[in-house]
Amino acid sequence: MDDQNLESIDDGLPIRDAGEWVENKLYFLSRYLHRFIVSMRGQKWRSINYIDLFSGPGKNRLPNGKTLHGSPLIAISQAKSFDKYFFSDIDPENIETLKKRCANSPEYSRISFRVGDAGAIIEDVAKIIEKENRIYRPGIWPSLNLAFLDPHGMELGWQTVERLAQLRTDMIIYYSQMGITREAPREINMPSPTPIDNFFGDTRWRDIYRQHQAGGVSLHRPLLDYYKSKLKAFGYQVDDPLDEPVFKNSKDAPLYRLLFVCKSSLGNKFWKDVTSKMADGQMRML
Ligand SMILES: C[S@@+](CC[C@H](N)C(=O)[O-])C[C@H]1O[C@@H](n2cnc3c(N)ncnc32)[C@H](O)[C@@H]1O
Repeated sequence: MDDQNLESIDDGLPIRDAGEWVENKLYFLSRYLHRFIVSMRGQKWRSINYIDLFSGPGKNRLPNGKTLHGSPLIAISQAKSFDKYFFSDIDPENIETLKKRCANSPEYSRISFRVGDAGAIIEDVAKIIEKENRIYRPGIWPSLNLAFLDPHGMELGWQTVERLAQLRTDMIIYYSQMGITREAPREINMPSPTPIDNFFGDTRWRDIYRQHQAGGVSLHRPLLDYYKSKLKAFGYQVDDPLDEPVFKNSKDAPLYRLLFVCKSSLGNKFWKDVTSKMADGQMRML
């Protein structure tokens, strides 16, 4: 049963105000986490870890007043445990609040909390996982990790993604479609590195943007394909056509997409399945 209840209660601690579109984002995440942990637990992975570098305070409130578990609480509420949960956020108050929310969880001893920029924290996390992988254990595979990378806008740098890619990590990545659409006309004339340069890890997006400006070429499809192609070098299976769910605001303007990348075709299959249906039970239109 992978249709988990995301609804939460107001516990009097700070809650993040979120747009209505967040419900589907968290719904896809919870369904993927369920498939992932249930099928991977029991295989020969040295450990299975969940990494959330933009964790928030643990709860979200929608405009209709509904309170939903945030990504870290969804991760610790799964039917099966991850070995380690790495939670971090740049805002110390979010982490203080999240600690309180996790305190009574049976998973508490498996969680580590950090405050800081995702680009710095990832180094710490990667070193812990790499150290564990170095211990010789015949017949045991390296650690398997799942990272949920969910900033507000363009705060996810390519170096963070690249560091995760060096490990065996499935990633669900926030792609700020509106941020890029809005900022590209300004950043194209700015010296590097700009936030968009940092997101892509280089300036190739500028050529794609110029082709788009010249006419006849869409913008986001080629940008997404370019981003994914960079991950191919790390063994990601990005040739399998996988659509990236688009989240829109109440005026039907695209805000962001969720990009999924994985090193096995099974993960791609799971992602296709879990994003085919929305939180209200409707099939998602492709
Ligand atoms: C969209 S919210 C995350 C929501 C959370 N995933 C959930 O499901 O409730 C984005 C979070 O990223 C944090 N953040 C912004 N910039 C950051 C950075 N450079 N490094 C780490 N965290 C950052 C913000 O403080 C905020 O809590």
